[in-house]
Amino acid sequence: MRLSRYFLPTIKENPSEAQIVSHRLMLRAGMIRQEAAGIYSWLPLGFRVLKKIEQIVREEQDRAGAIEVLMPTIQPADLWRTSGRYDDYGKEMLRIVDRHERDMLYGPTNEEMITEIFRTSVKSYKDLPLNLYHIQWKFRDEVRPRFGVMRGREFLMKDAYSFDLDATSARASYNRMFVAYLRTYARMGLKAIPMRADTGPIGGDLSHEFIILADTGESEVYCDAAWLDADVLKQEIDFKSDLQPLVDEWLSKYAATSEMHDAAKCPVAPDRLRKARGIEVGHIFYFGTKYSKPMGATVAGANGEPVTVEMGSYGIGVSRLAGAIIEASHDEAGIVWPDAVAPFDVALVNLRTGDAKCDAACEDLYARLAKAGKDTLYADTTDSAGAKFATMDLIGLPWQLVVGPRGIANGKVELKRRRTGERVEMSLDEAMNRLTAKAG
Ligand SMILES: Nc1ncnc2c1ncn2[C@@H]1O[C@H](COP(=O)(O)OP(=O)(O)O)[C@@H](O)[C@H]1O
Ligand SMILES: [Mg+2]
Repeated sequence: MRLSRYFLPTIKENPSEAQIVSHRLMLRAGMIRQEAAGIYSWLPLGFRVLKKIEQIVREEQDRAGAIEVLMPTIQPADLWRTSGRYDDYGKEMLRIVDRHERDMLYGPTNEEMITEIFRTSVKSYKDLPLNLYHIQWKFRDEVRPRFGVMRGREFLMKDAYSFDLDATSARASYNRMFVAYLRTYARMGLKAIPMRADTGPIGGDLSHEFIILADTGESEVYCDAAWLDADVLKQEIDFKSDLQPLVDEWLSKYAATSEMHDAAKCPVAPDRLRKARGIEVGHIFYFGTKYSKPMGATVAGANGEPVTVEMGSYGIGVSRLAGAIIEASHDEAGIVWPDAVAPFDVALVNLRTGDAKCDAACEDLYARLAKAGKDTLYADTTDSAGAKFATMDLIGLPWQLVVGPRGIANGKVELKRRRTGERVEMSLDEAMNRLTAKAG
């Protein structure tokens, strides 16, 4: 993408309405625009990040055996009357009346709808286990939307729903999501720690929140220092195997939110215990027959008898993650995107647009990067070198490939790693090799 043809409305000053760094940087980098309290447009740069996050979530859900569907944002109120939640949900639910005076709502979650889909289509135990998910916008009329996309009113969530014949198999479904979640966040360069959670209004038996550590987090958390150097991606996972030993191993490392933490009973030695703030980026529940029972979601068991299915639900805050990743990865100059979610792989910086040699070298590199499958943002505008560097540092692409008149006279360009600030002068070929050798 040529910057001169792109839509990147960056802002120099710190927006006064933004209280935390991710909100500030998302506005400054031209990623989002607020349309109403807690409701945002995603501008091109932000949209690319959102899609990258979404795709990692999707790949890990698929790997764990979940199947993607797409349910609507607008739901009929009658569906929610069957579970009793229409009245219980309160003011967080955005209620709508259509032209025929039918009560509708903008979905805050989809347990009822998925249970209805299941109830009317799945008849036999042979079709279980089943896990269906979608990635769809939700609306919750939060009293205090804040921190940009971190606590919005309209937000993008991945929500999955599992259906099983009995509690043992439901636990196996829960474990698959548990492991998929750890992998998902790790692939985004995040350390998300599962913490036993209160089951709250959704209710049920077993629940974990996945929390990343960041100073601006809304919750206070405690964890074993061992979590900080755990590497969840180094293990090959076979999702067809029994994952319980693996889950038990992970859960043996202590971690708890302040509500669940009890200093007197904490098993971690004081010098190993870390107290930090955290951001909830995912939440999984096993809630048994809470919805299947009132809604009559049964299948025929092995002997033909009706069995009420056991369910779980599994959420990931896709749009919140865009902010959460920035909270975890930024510096004074701006965002520092982990490679896997960066909106572009490379910033190609022409220090003197209009100079024949610089332009030719940039065009050559731009074409070669495209051929190698690298998404490149080519800073081909006539802004000053300083302004270009400031913008590229702000938007935080992993690599900056800098082409200037002095270097190019000797056949050299400069490659800068955004995360470390390290700059190395090298030939065009060497730079290409470095950029294409790195996965992602
Ligand atoms: N208002 C919001 N804005 C952005 N993301 C949200 C919001 N509410 C929830 N999420 C994300 O969706 C995930 C699943 O939501 P859920 O656990 O059902 O919500 P809650 O934590 O409010 O009970 C959360 O872990 C969080 O990452
Ligand atoms: Mg939650």
